[in-house]
Amino acid sequence: MKELKKGVYWVGATDWKVRHFHGYELSTHRGSTYNSYLIMDEKIVLIDTVWEPLTDMFLENLSEVVDPRSIDYVVVNHAEPDHSGALPAIMKYVPNATVIVSKKGIETVKEHYHTDWNFKVVTTGERINIGKNDLMFIEASMLHWPDSMFTYLTGENILFSNDAFGQHFASSEIFNDEVDETEVYQEAIKYYANILTPFSKLVAKKIDELKALNLPIDIIAPSHGILWRKDPMRIVEKYSEWAAGNSQKSAVIVYNSMWGATHNMAEFIGKGIGQAGVEYKIFNISTADRNDVMAEIFKAKGIILGSSTVNNGLLTSLMPVIEDLMGLKFINKVGTSFGSYGWSGESPKLLTDYLTKAKIKVLQDGIKIKYMPDNKELEDCLQFGKSFAERMLTEF
Ligand code: FEO
Repeated sequence: MKELKKGVYWVGATDWKVRHFHGYELSTHRGSTYNSYLIMDEKIVLIDTVWEPLTDMFLENLSEVVDPRSIDYVVVNHAEPDHSGALPAIMKYVPNATVIVSKKGIETVKEHYHTDWNFKVVTTGERINIGKNDLMFIEASMLHWPDSMFTYLTGENILFSNDAFGQHFASSEIFNDEVDETEVYQEAIKYYANILTPFSKLVAKKIDELKALNLPIDIIAPSHGILWRKDPMRIVEKYSEWAAGNSQKSAVIVYNSMWGATHNMAEFIGKGIGQAGVEYKIFNISTADRNDVMAEIFKAKGIILGSSTVNNGLLTSLMPVIEDLMGLKFINKVGTSFGSYGWSGESPKLLTDYLTKAKIKVLQDGIKIKYMPDNKELEDCLQFGKSFAERMLTEF
């Protein structure tokens, strides 16, 4: 339990050991937190809860500040189970408390818990007086679910932004001025790249709307990870940059290889990129973490996919990356492909077709090499990488 401002407490749960989210889809190397907040005004307000398995820890933290039976309002900013999982446990203490939800939230909460609590639906700009201060609501649909909503506390100037501006980051501290911000920003960009990119246009619009409200903001309190107290609008500006799809002048090579030929091609394509003065990173997808790789692709301008040809197709380990590229809808990227083969050699063409489907501009056809590349063919790979990087630089 920690006090954010007078009468406003963090009462969430810290999950030091979680390493996967959304089933096994998303890696969380630094653990995570499920941030729940308690406001002690004339009315007592709980904002979001925690994932159901951490209910006991949450109730202990909450009970350090208040008897849960005295809660008047429960704000559900978002019904995904990592934030609403302990809602049924809370509602057992206060079955008649008002559950505040967005228009879509009433549907998502009911469809998760199949219980008709005392719901109050709120819309953007609506206020509820809780004594000294008001709660004000800002719908944030598709950031990242239809029901997502921000809650703003007047007087104390705290924006409870739920998933937006969050990061999977377990910590003994709660504010950005108390921890190593480099680590926090790395987790924030990974979170954005892997979860929010399909909604970038809506993110940009929501940020404009938020700025237009001209609310004084002292703290941005997301539902995962660290809270932004020092220079809180910096993360908002970062979100604007990320939503705009501004890329670094760098390239990422992602490949897999059966006997090392495609690996050797990757190395020489990388050297060529480097000779053009462009920074590059190489990931063998059989050993790299896919979500980390997606964060690196998100930062870079160029993406080069490589696979040996097998069964007239691709190595299967490339497919999750391709699925992510199509689903996450990165913008303003350019790409190409490569791969070795024995007799048919379809993989580079298949890879550029996938890049096109993912709306990544293919700057040049892929390169393929039969069996093991010799010195001349490695030089071809080097020149291939160099020409890709030179073309990529003209795209800025
Ligand atoms: Fe952290 Fe959308 O749940």
